[in-house]
Formats: sequence, C-alpha cells, structure tokens
Amino acid sequence: MKSSASAPAKAILFGEHAVVYSKPAIAAAIDRRVTVTVSESSSTHVTIPSLGIRHSSERPSGGILDYIGRCLELYHDASPLDIRVEMEIPAGSGLGSSAALTVALIGALDRYHGRDHGPGETAARAHRVEVDVQGAASPLDTAISTYGGLVYLDSQRRVRQFEADLGDLVIAHLDYSGETARMVAGVAERFRRFPDIMGRIMDTVESITNTAYRELLRNNTEPLGELMNLNQGLLDSMGVSTRELSMMVYEARNAGAAGSKITGAGGGGSIIAHCPGCVDDVVTALNRNWKAMRAEFSVKGLI
Ligand code: MEV
Repeated sequence: MKSSASAPAKAILFGEHAVVYSKPAIAAAIDRRVTVTVSESSSTHVTIPSLGIRHSSERPSGGILDYIGRCLELYHDASPLDIRVEMEIPAGSGLGSSAALTVALIGALDRYHGRDHGPGETAARAHRVEVDVQGAASPLDTAISTYGGLVYLDSQRRVRQFEADLGDLVIAHLDYSGETARMVAGVAERFRRFPDIMGRIMDTVESITNTAYRELLRNNTEPLGELMNLNQGLLDSMGVSTRELSMMVYEARNAGAAGSKITGAGGGGSIIAHCPGCVDDVVTALNRNWKAMRAEFSVKGLI
C-alpha cells in the first residue's frame, strides 16, 4: 500500500513572534512544496534527498526527523513504513519546511489509513506535533500549510482565509535558520525581564498587522512597505534580527524596495521585501551575496 500528499511552504507577511502571544498574524502560502510518500515496508526508513538524509529506525529522531517521529507516534500504528520526502523548499530558509512536512505527512498517513479529516482537524493535529517538538508554537505555520492561499489568524486563533493582490514581493534567504524553538525562547526570556515594554511591542505589532489586513482587504498594497519597515524595527527590538539579516533588509531597501523585514523566526532564515516595479533590481542586488527570488504564491494548501 502507498499514498502521497503535499503541502506548501509559507511566508509570514506580518506578526511573527507576536502571534505566539495570541496576537494576529498574516501569512501566505508560497509556490514551493513538500511532498511525502509513505509505503508499506519491512522496516521504517526515511529518505529526504534534498537534505542528504537516509535514516533507518522505528522512531525517527533528530532535527527535522523529530516531526516525523512524533507524527508516527500520534497518527500511525506501529507498522513499518518507507517514508520519502521531496522538498522544494531551500534547507534552513525559515520558510516553514517543518510545518509543510508535518501537514503533508499527516495528509499521507490519513490517506494510507483511509481517514478523511477536514482541514480544521488536520491543521490542529499538525499544530499539536509542532508544539510537542518545539515546546511552543502558534497555529499559524501549520494553518497556512494546510489551507494555502492567504490567512489572517485572529487573536482568538480563528483562521480567516482571504484573497488579495499582494503586489510585487521578493524573498531572500540564508543557508541556515535560527531554529524556531530557540528564537521563541529568546523572545520569552526578554518578555520575562521586561514585561511592560515587550507587552507594548506586541500590542504595536498587532496594530501593524491589523492595519495591513484592512488595507489588503481593500486591495491597497501602497502602505505595505512602510508597514513592513515598522514591523522590522519591532522584530529587531525583540532580538530576532542579526547583522546579516539587517544587511539583507537594508540591501533590499537600497535597491528600491518600499519596505522589507524578516519573515519567520529570524536568527537566520529569510527576509521579504515589497518591491513595486523593482523586483528585478532587488533580486539582482540581493543575489550578489544571498539567494533571492520573486515570491510566487500558491492558492493550494494540502493536496
Ligand atoms: C515561525 O515561522 C513563526 C513564529 O511566530 C513562531 C510561531 O508562530 O510558532 C516565530
């Protein structure tokens, strides 16, 4: 018996980290997918060619394999499986490879066992895996990989799918990520030391996200760049930017971007830039030192 499923990577437009404190956030699915195929086997193997991983054990563990191990514990019986993962997402780019892998694996296991869950249940199951593996995680990454398109996650954790023209966006990435769990823990520590200050920072990120959401619903992308710059300043004050990420952010602005910010957990990973009429200039400038691409979005979630 054999079954497959695939789920998209994501870019967070506004509200990362604040979303862990029940603030709203906006994310878009991007046109890079993780496809998982599971087949009956005599022993359990995991193969992820793009990461050079060939792993054999009943309980896969270590790095990204922790997500696979936890999914098998929660959503599979003990029978051995051959698991093959094809990733179009650059390794360590902070574009949500773990969430996309988790959602795709849950989708493949559901098909393998003949289960038919709706997207709400799939997203909730995938979120549980992320929390178990990372210690803390908002439902944002797993929601966007499940639903695709554009999602506004509100402060009550409700997923609102919406449609909008995002205009010209560029994503540039490093070859390493900052490890979401470590970055989230760093923000929590700063929150513990300075609760009033950090509380106000999170409230301001909420205002930025809600302003962006209102403008996107009106299909007005004009203020997106400035709102990204405001959000970036606050991500910096949360302690999740680095010298290299700041260099990327400013390189994009120097090349004409209307605004730019970290996307995702920070510490490494990726930036996103709003580049009306100057996508090629920004991609060329960022490609001198990093890897940049025009952001292509995906309406398809888990398929
Ligand atoms: C990571 O992609 C996004 C964070 O907000 C963590 C989370 O939402 O769980 C940093």
